[in-house]
Amino acid sequence: MDIDRLRAETPGAGSGVYLNNAGCSLMPRPVIGAVQDYFALEASAGGFRAMTQQTEALDVVYASLASLINAKPSEIALMGSHTDAWQSVFYGLSFEEGDRILTGRAEYGANYVAFLQMRKRTGCQIEIIPCDASGATDCQALEKMLDDRVKLIAITWIPTNGGLINPAAEIGKLAQAHAVPYLLDACQAVGQMPVDVAQLGCDFLSATGRKWLRGPKGTGFLYVREERLSNIEPATIDDFGALWTKPDTYELVAGARRYEIHEYAPALRFGLGAAAEYALELGLDKIQDRVRRLAASLRVELARIPGITVRDLGAEKAGLVTFSHDSIQPGAINRALEAEAIQLKVVPREGALLDSTARQLGEMVRASPHYFNSEQELETFLKALHKAVSA
Ligand SMILES: Cc1ncc(COP(=O)(O)O)c(C=O)c1O
Repeated sequence: MDIDRLRAETPGAGSGVYLNNAGCSLMPRPVIGAVQDYFALEASAGGFRAMTQQTEALDVVYASLASLINAKPSEIALMGSHTDAWQSVFYGLSFEEGDRILTGRAEYGANYVAFLQMRKRTGCQIEIIPCDASGATDCQALEKMLDDRVKLIAITWIPTNGGLINPAAEIGKLAQAHAVPYLLDACQAVGQMPVDVAQLGCDFLSATGRKWLRGPKGTGFLYVREERLSNIEPATIDDFGALWTKPDTYELVAGARRYEIHEYAPALRFGLGAAAEYALELGLDKIQDRVRRLAASLRVELARIPGITVRDLGAEKAGLVTFSHDSIQPGAINRALEAEAIQLKVVPREGALLDSTARQLGEMVRASPHYFNSEQELETFLKALHKAVSA
């Protein structure tokens, strides 16, 4: 990878050290350009005419996202965020008293509160699949839990609070063998590593644009396996996702676009498409390789700083590096580094509350390097951290 070129294409990369790519990465120029060009067209042609002119170009966005995850364009819906995508699936499923939802210990907070609400509404049960020795979801334990009351397996592939990578594809095999709907939160995976829905065996996959994919904020997408379209409806529909065929009937439109609604920002969608193309051109294998290398070197160096403990679980680890200090609060560390123009994130306990509770974790500091971060930047960060905790 030509890191200098990639940095030159990233306007935000010059000002300080940006290590919050798991929160919201920096957009590269082609993404910014795609958004700006469309807004310029909208300003001159008007919103509706601009859309009519760009209908075919918008189809390319679906195709780009489909190639990114090895799906068909008709299996992609463009959404406003990961959570938007996830909820439109989850709340479209039917649960009755005694039905079981199986999930992992590191499930994301926004997903988990939705499980709790569904339990309150329907009396369904939420059950946590135990972890293996590495901290990942244990597939042998999962297999033993499966029966015909299990109505959903919902897993966060890479949690918000560390480098853990759950065995999403092994879980997919079990879900398929037992014909249980499988909803995968791939929010922290898409754009960071190769994603192949055929290999994953998931029925639904939800992702965001602004994180590792480096798309605009306010974008996300949903994958729905073709076979699932026939028996599961979106949580909500409007007259874009469904045709009002007679006064008292409707018909869902073909493909995953039935999960979309009429009003959206095309400029952001073009930005998302440009982000997918950018990642595809760089190569997801190469991206994964560099991100993991940078993250692994950070973990080694962080562990050498007196008082710092790296908190990441998992046999193989992704680009989210979390740590805490024996006596200095994460917020204080973050403020000290912010003063040196270094952007990190303090992850709250509630991001993955079951995991924080089980491991007795408080808040943690998270550094998430992307491929465009230089080795020099990591050194700058480590030096500043060393200074902050030694002061
Ligand atoms: C694992 C995980 N899932 C879901 C989300 C939520 O994504 P969004 O804000 O796009 O809805 C996040 C965001 O931090 C996340 O880390």
